[in-house]
Amino acid sequence: MKSDQDLYKQLRDLPKEQLWRSEVPRFDAASQRERMETVALIRALGTIFSRFGTDEEKAAVRGWLIALLKDPQEKIRRYAMAALPKIGGDEGVEAQMLSLLKENGGEREKRHLGRALEKIGGSATLAFMAQGESLPELTQQKVQAAIARRENPGTVELDALLPGKSGMQINLRCRRGLEKILGEEAEAQLDPSIFRLGPVRPGCVTLTPLKPFSLAMLYEMRCFATVGIRIGLIENGTGSEWEDALAGCIASSTARKIMLAATNGAPRYRVDLPARGHQRGAIRNVVQQAHALAPELLNDARQAPWSVDVTPVGSGPRKQRDVLVELRPRLYPDPRLEYRQDDVSAASHPPLAACMARLAAQASPDSEEPRQVVWDPFCGSGLELIERSMLGGVSAVHGTDLDPAAIGIARANFEAAGLENVSGMFTRCDFRNAEELAGIAPGSITLVITNPPLGRRIRVKDMPGLIADLLLAATKALEPGGLLIFTNPLRDGPSSPSLKLEYRQTVDLGGFDCQLEMYSKLVARGDGKIRMQKQ
Ligand SMILES: C[S@@+](CC[C@H](N)C(=O)[O-])C[C@H]1O[C@@H](n2cnc3c(N)ncnc32)[C@H](O)[C@@H]1O
Repeated sequence: MKSDQDLYKQLRDLPKEQLWRSEVPRFDAASQRERMETVALIRALGTIFSRFGTDEEKAAVRGWLIALLKDPQEKIRRYAMAALPKIGGDEGVEAQMLSLLKENGGEREKRHLGRALEKIGGSATLAFMAQGESLPELTQQKVQAAIARRENPGTVELDALLPGKSGMQINLRCRRGLEKILGEEAEAQLDPSIFRLGPVRPGCVTLTPLKPFSLAMLYEMRCFATVGIRIGLIENGTGSEWEDALAGCIASSTARKIMLAATNGAPRYRVDLPARGHQRGAIRNVVQQAHALAPELLNDARQAPWSVDVTPVGSGPRKQRDVLVELRPRLYPDPRLEYRQDDVSAASHPPLAACMARLAAQASPDSEEPRQVVWDPFCGSGLELIERSMLGGVSAVHGTDLDPAAIGIARANFEAAGLENVSGMFTRCDFRNAEELAGIAPGSITLVITNPPLGRRIRVKDMPGLIADLLLAATKALEPGGLLIFTNPLRDGPSSPSLKLEYRQTVDLGGFDCQLEMYSKLVARGDGKIRMQKQ
């Protein structure tokens, strides 16, 4: 006999029509014993029709599942309870579940009904609980959160003033290898009377607020990926003590004040735990405990404006490490990327594009007139060109890409960025033909900035050949003294006699390392030898 899980996997792969027209009637006509053996069908129906069912089909499946809530077998009722929220429960389903609760089911059934009501419950469930009817403690919090979410999903208020109390630590996170650029941006951008720069660690620049501050002040910066405000450090451990400590961090006065001050709507948060074994149970205990300490904070994984991130620190096996607990605003879309109309599948990580742009701007000589002419040979959605233009000094950008969709997206993003006095030209072509097709004349470009395909998401047959061609094309297009900045997936940098290495840094591009490199083009002397351009 197949296990429920094996059968579920098998049924999940069947066409939905077959499930509904053959498997469901077979299940309905089967004996009690056979129904118990094929209970996985209920789960498969919930999964498949929630994803692929039309409204009409979902309504039919919902009706079937509601009928199963009255099945004599507790296991069948439980499976139906779990499947209903996936299909989408309404007030009718809620009423059916509440009436089942009144019928004195066992503790296990109550627990499952509570979990289903956490997902679909509304005011009827709260009223039911207010009458003293017992449901799992967490259900009340979850239902309150769901009601709050439906009324107003809530967003983080960037302009709200947050308490900058002594000892508070803000962690600006970036990809490993980009800390120095991010630190320099923080130094240049932030008001030193409000923020003091602290230690720089791999992938993180720390700040201490000296006075009340707003997240908007931080989001003026473009080179960090996320911001986390430290709300605790918990010693390695497990069990209820560890869970209580995490609940204490969530309900701490720092976390409460921040969430209350800076949420438009109910302060809802999700918890991101590192894999610690029985994670689901641990999270339920933690958020239940946190709610007892701070009832105004609601745990809700869906569309939560805040995340409580739990990250192991130090070295050694993950499970034996202390953990840092941080509160992170969840901003979708990131306000810094408002220009982004669309995206390509291999788009650059936006803070990486911002860091590359910053590196370029710092290395370019100041001039009164915007004179930078920038080319991204593999422009994709255009992030590098836009980020560089935002830093000023640019008169024109050229984007080339093989993919016509990418060209349309880059153009739309560039227009949406509203970059005054910067002209944008986007051409669908192989970068090797940019001279003829995109009109990029030799010596006309001051900066080539690009993230080439790295062979991860898009397969590249001959990576060394591609990078060699990029160097050739960039060297030809650049004016003497012009800069080439790119992420190099190859270990060895180019050994072109016309290019001088100015910067190289290993950067984590999301699980694999690359070299972020910057070269300047040397100036050829009359005798054909090469010399440096004086800037
Ligand atoms: C890593 S993606 C660039 C992402 C881009 N920086 C962004 O933020 O969206 C690489 C791009 O190179 C393009 N590409 C690949 N081979 C090319 C070639 N020979 N000439 C021009 N573009 C090419 C791909 O279509 C892809 O859009």
